[in-house]
Amino acid sequence: MTEISFLLNGAPVTVADQPPTRTLLDWLRDVRGLTGTKEGCNEGDCGACTVMVTDADGSRALNACILFLAQLHGKAVRTVEGIAGPDGSLHPVQQAMITHHGSQCGFCTPGFVVSMAVGHAQGRRDHDDVLAGNLCRCTGYAPIIRAAEAAEAAPVPSWMDDAAGLPLLQISQGSGGSAPGAFRPRDSDELAEWYLANPDAVLIAGATDVGLWVTKQLRNLTPVAFLNGVRDLQAIEEQGGQLHIGAGVTISALLDAVKERLPSLGELLRRYASVQVRNAATIGGNIANGSPIGDGPPALIALGATLHLRRGDAMRSMALEDFFIEYRKQDRRPGEFVAGISMPGSAPALRCYKLSKRFDQDISAVCGCFNVTVEAGVVTGARIAFGGMAGVPKRAAEAEAALVGQTWTLATAERAAAAMASDFTPLSDMRASAAYRMETAQNMMIRYFHDLNGVPVSVLEVMP
Ligand SMILES: Cc1cc2nc3c(=O)[nH]c(=O)nc-3n(C[C@H](O)[C@H](O)[C@H](O)COP(=O)(O)OP(=O)(O)OC[C@H]3O[C@@H](n4cnc5c(N)ncnc54)[C@H](O)[C@@H]3O)c2cc1C
Ligand code: FES
Ligand code: FES
Repeated sequence: MTEISFLLNGAPVTVADQPPTRTLLDWLRDVRGLTGTKEGCNEGDCGACTVMVTDADGSRALNACILFLAQLHGKAVRTVEGIAGPDGSLHPVQQAMITHHGSQCGFCTPGFVVSMAVGHAQGRRDHDDVLAGNLCRCTGYAPIIRAAEAAEAAPVPSWMDDAAGLPLLQISQGSGGSAPGAFRPRDSDELAEWYLANPDAVLIAGATDVGLWVTKQLRNLTPVAFLNGVRDLQAIEEQGGQLHIGAGVTISALLDAVKERLPSLGELLRRYASVQVRNAATIGGNIANGSPIGDGPPALIALGATLHLRRGDAMRSMALEDFFIEYRKQDRRPGEFVAGISMPGSAPALRCYKLSKRFDQDISAVCGCFNVTVEAGVVTGARIAFGGMAGVPKRAAEAEAALVGQTWTLATAERAAAAMASDFTPLSDMRASAAYRMETAQNMMIRYFHDLNGVPVSVLEVMP
């Protein structure tokens, strides 16, 4: 791999001798001896390895266990060792953790402290969301949340300002094209040309899936291309009521862009993994991995999104649902990559329901997304899509047919729910049984009917 330069706790470092898929966590602990950052799960689930990463877009919390060194080129990394000041003064969140008895073991605490410090720097008050990706098994969350609240008003310590240090970096402007096994394209033209010549390569966007291929499956992935330097794939633009979203847009950026205009999608994305995972994961990766249980595709299909693919100089577009052919098989040619999606910027009838065993930081057992148009009491259009009900994210065609042309009544919704039995033959797995999946999907149809009629249906709203 060509050289990777970044700031580590304020000091410039250059790494030249590491394999392309060396994780930041392994490098910190094994090479640098910075063992404050802990390895809990090594798969993005526990937050013990949380670090702060800063670049031109600001600071964010990321999981070091599924973050490759090459993704850090040109950025600043701050580990738990850099949260206290150079003279040893504690950061306000560290002091508050002591005062409020927020720690009993040294395992989760470093990750909590880093997540809290990032939230503190961003002035966030939604501590439950900020800390949903940090698991604690002994202290319990109440003292930790109290500590986060207690630190809110304290000024951000000057040493946390990594953006000021970024100009210190001597960044080579060349891409990583000449390095064996790894490429860092700077724009989508470079990516398109390289991928056409290297169609067997693995594209790495946020690495929230690919990272696990390395840490859990111990796979050797080369050649690889790191997409996080491809700025032109990271834009969100609005044109004629349509949103155009680049494949490299993170779930966090998408959440910010849609939470006001598409609140139900915003709420779905708020429950997508954790802050750390959302800060890395991209919508392009979420679509391209073809998972039947990804949260993005059902919502985007219900919205009527169009997928844009690029191979060399050739672009093609298709309805997103047509991309998913069968389990883990997508309509993507060798050397072709996801460039982005287009979707309506507003859809008042869109509702997304995520059913998972845990409210936060969990993969869906069933994800149902509904977008029904009712005019003068009659259904004139219906787009219903599910994750977790088939080998691919899939529309409920029979249920839609049972709705269109009918009056919008509970009886119609019940007939559509019954029709879902012809749409899907779900599987039983560790997340849910087939019967549970079918029953809950059908219930979501009824829930949607009540939801559109203004009845509170969220567990957060329904009172005993
Ligand atoms: C702890 C944890 C929790 C999670 N929770 C959720 C959840 O709640 N909901 C959910 O939907 N997912 C969840 N995921 C899965 C994961 O976050 C998503 O699938 C994510 O969107 C993948 O995006 P990425 O950018 O990280 O992709 P990567 O891991 O970089 O890549 C994923 C796949 O897509 C390919 N790829 C990436 N970008 C492109 C492109 N532009 N063109 C072509 N191919 C491309 C890669 O080659 C790879 O095959 C979770 C993952 C973790 C680790
Ligand atoms: S070690 Fe658990 S999220 Fe990284
Ligand atoms: S204090 Fe022990 S796991 Fe958090």
